[in-house]
Amino acid sequence: MFGLKRQKTGLILDKIPKHIGIIMDGNGRWAKKRLQPRVMGHKAGMDALQKVTIVASQLGVKVLTVYAFSTENWSRPEDEVSFIMTLPVTFFDKYVPELDQHNVRVQMMGSRQGLPKETLAAMDKALEKTRHNSGLVLNFALNYGGRAEIVETVRDLAQDVLDARLNPGDITEDLISGHLMTSRLPYLYRDPDLVIRTSGELRTSNFLPWQMAYSELYFTDTLWPDFDGDALKEAISDYNRRHRRFGGV
Ligand code: FPP
Repeated sequence: MFGLKRQKTGLILDKIPKHIGIIMDGNGRWAKKRLQPRVMGHKAGMDALQKVTIVASQLGVKVLTVYAFSTENWSRPEDEVSFIMTLPVTFFDKYVPELDQHNVRVQMMGSRQGLPKETLAAMDKALEKTRHNSGLVLNFALNYGGRAEIVETVRDLAQDVLDARLNPGDITEDLISGHLMTSRLPYLYRDPDLVIRTSGELRTSNFLPWQMAYSELYFTDTLWPDFDGDALKEAISDYNRRHRRFGGV
């Protein structure tokens, strides 16, 4: 582990963010630069994800939440959507065995509705195979939308009030956090400490809007398929230079 050490590269990796969120953007542009179809970018993006997950787990990161498919991504060309929907099958066959060896546990959040049966079956197999692992949680946001998640929570709580199980005055931030999809993560690591977005876009795109309230944000021009373990360390080193105040002084 890196402990309180400064690496040879000059990177400081003393405080490791426990939960990192990643908006893996730029796959299409990566492929276009190589005159390849966009889907080749997603394929390369899977390799990048595998490498980054293993480095993150070696560094002591507890949760990695990755934005794999948003509720808005359905508007992409049909063949691209179909391809992305096959990725979990490839993921299970090609990547899960190695992740399992690294004690990684796969989880998923997002709406199951609308996802093809085979996609769900492959994700479920990955969840089941790694369910006893106690290392890093690789949490896929798949068919996920942050505002939709909040709407669902409000509906649940409104129903509880209607059924007289809940007083409006008892609604707290913690109660809301406990109804969001991230409530399935270990309690201490529900909210990301650091959120990374690749490819130079400066937006958060409906990714964890509630959970990200106090996260440090890191933007890099690197396209996702080119993002690797060193790039992750660079982001963590940048995070280490920040001073998180949570509204205090
Ligand atoms: C954004 O790049 C990337 C995506 C929408 C998909 C990312 C998914 C993976 C890397 C793998 C997911 C794995 C599983 C198992 C589901 P973009 O296409 O928006 O790139 P662009 O902005 O350059 O067009």
